[in-house]
Amino acid sequence: MDILGIDVGGTGIKGAIVNTETGVLITKRKRFKTPSPANPEALSEIIEKMVQHFNWNGPIGCGFPTPLQHGKCLTGGNLHKDWKGVQVDKLFEEKTRNQYFIVNDADAAGLAEINFGAGKDVKGVVIMITLGTGIGSGLFLDGKLLPNTEFGHVLHKNGDIFEKYASDSARERDELNSKQWGKRLHKYFKHINLLLSPDLIIIGGGASKKFDKIEARINIDTKIVPAEAENEAGIIGAALAAKYQIK
Ligand code: BGC
Repeated sequence: MDILGIDVGGTGIKGAIVNTETGVLITKRKRFKTPSPANPEALSEIIEKMVQHFNWNGPIGCGFPTPLQHGKCLTGGNLHKDWKGVQVDKLFEEKTRNQYFIVNDADAAGLAEINFGAGKDVKGVVIMITLGTGIGSGLFLDGKLLPNTEFGHVLHKNGDIFEKYASDSARERDELNSKQWGKRLHKYFKHINLLLSPDLIIIGGGASKKFDKIEARINIDTKIVPAEAENEAGIIGAALAAKYQIK
């Protein structure tokens, strides 16, 4: 089954038609810049452009970078405060008349890895952690997703969340070298490991490309691997979410 997958991110909105049996993109990826401000009105116009670009007439899976419950934003996350309370699928449906399945972006990336990448055929508890502008998480048991976890929001200290301390944007902001960033990541993953006792941790987001620099700095017993389909995982996983009708 072919489905249009869209990955909404803080800097770019990417889409492609995905063969959901094989996890392969059957069209070239199309990328639009995320509008600034990335409010509901501006962003839904980009979604409309994406659908027009592919002249698409079927269901759409869309990865979204905010805390969600049944397709509704609980906060605006790193996008825009006006997303709070918005039922994203309904908003986009009004715009293009397609049926939308809105899934958290890290859940989408995890779905791609579990089905076709680093988590394929892995039994037990697998957690995908994306290190980018924010920290996102996707939690799986025997390949099945428990949606909408927010393990980037685990408290670090003084009421601050780990996302503000250990994400890729925190690395940039504080101009950390890999040793300094690795120290923070070690703290984070040690804590995640204690909370979940996972069988496998998959690191995604921009940081999966720097995996060789940080791997040795995270000293926990659990196996940690980089995501395999990084650039495309969000698109593929979004399409899979529509196939499995995850909302
Ligand atoms: C959001 C998550 C999202 C992550 C990565 C966090 O700020 O709360 O929902 O998955 O960023 O985009």
